[in-house]
Amino acid sequence: MDPSPTPDPAPEDRRARLLRLARDGADATGFLPFDRWMDLVLYTEGAGYYARPRSPLGPTGDFYTAPYVHPLFGAAFAERIREVRVQLGADRPFTLLEIGPGDGTLTAGIVTALGAHWTDDPNLRIVLVERSTPLRSAALRRARHASQPFGFRVSTVESVSELGPFEGAIVANELLDAQPVRRVRWSGREWRELGVRLTASGLRADEAPLVDPIPPPPLPAVPDEGTVVEFSPAAEGLVREIADHLVAGVWLIDDYGLEETELVRAHPEGTLATVRGHRSGDEPLESPGEHDLSAFVNWTRLRSVARAAGLEVVADRSQAMALGAWGYPRLFEEALARTRSSEDEVKLRLTVKNLLFGFESFRVIELAPARVADRFRPST
Ligand SMILES: C[S@@+](CC[C@H](N)C(=O)[O-])C[C@H]1O[C@@H](n2cnc3c(N)ncnc32)[C@H](O)[C@@H]1O
Repeated sequence: MDPSPTPDPAPEDRRARLLRLARDGADATGFLPFDRWMDLVLYTEGAGYYARPRSPLGPTGDFYTAPYVHPLFGAAFAERIREVRVQLGADRPFTLLEIGPGDGTLTAGIVTALGAHWTDDPNLRIVLVERSTPLRSAALRRARHASQPFGFRVSTVESVSELGPFEGAIVANELLDAQPVRRVRWSGREWRELGVRLTASGLRADEAPLVDPIPPPPLPAVPDEGTVVEFSPAAEGLVREIADHLVAGVWLIDDYGLEETELVRAHPEGTLATVRGHRSGDEPLESPGEHDLSAFVNWTRLRSVARAAGLEVVADRSQAMALGAWGYPRLFEEALARTRSSEDEVKLRLTVKNLLFGFESFRVIELAPARVADRFRPST
């Protein structure tokens, strides 16, 4: 039986706890860099946005991700995962790892579609790495339920490193945009660190000299004064961790982002956004722990970090193009043939259109270990 869920503390208690932790983490002047603040408010056990008992995802949560639009999204991923299995060698041990599965909706969609072609294979293990305790339990439950008819083994681990070296496919949908970002502002002479200042009466946005050096690759040289650039040491650390453990196979990253030149030109104030109750906002310091915080992925930087870590880009295209290449039109026709009324047919057509055109700034980037990258290029 499931343990009874931990009760959600009242918003004022959560806020008081987050502020206390922020004060503890701040320097002697009360300054806390933005990435540490973002990490606290999103992931603190019991009080952070993702660590609370209720799921923030889907229609009853705060925002939709693609897997909630239609299971065809997971079915398309499953097509590419089956191809990776063939590229790897169908008789080899295969790890399907999902990082940041949330409540496991995508995992269940993938597993259900895989099960139509692949059952009772002792070589296959499905592993979930989810930072939030309540979401990890929900994902494990959902993935096990979906896997049961096909005899797939599902487990969770704390981190990718815990797996040791492995071969297979990794899935990460909207994981990177949820990683804490450092925010730095060009003063006209130097980069300054943006963050929060904790005072006796509360907190406010502020800036300070850089708290840590900016790791390579270098940021854009001499942008306009006041330009804010965001980058995520946590996301870059994940890339390095995967490069260290994925021996053969592919990491499928689906997320929203832009190239660095586009970010600097189109978002000189940065891309940090909040969302709550399916409405976006722009007050990231208000109501800590009560809303999601995310930022666009800087694809230029991410690719550069991946290459330096030994990963090669084997595909890089919009979400719509990737879904198309992974058999989405055929999967759609098959789903259409299963509809039982004209109303269902219209609904299906609308949701499918949403997956293709409603996720405009989303890209799918596939990374493989450079030494074996040629084996893992997608066939379409
Ligand atoms: C925006 S949600 C996306 C959930 C799911 N992939 C989907 O598409 O619906 C981001 C998820 O990543 C998880 N997460 C963030 N950082 C993580 C990390 N370092 N390791 C594992 N999970 C992480 C969060 O707890 C959250 O469940």
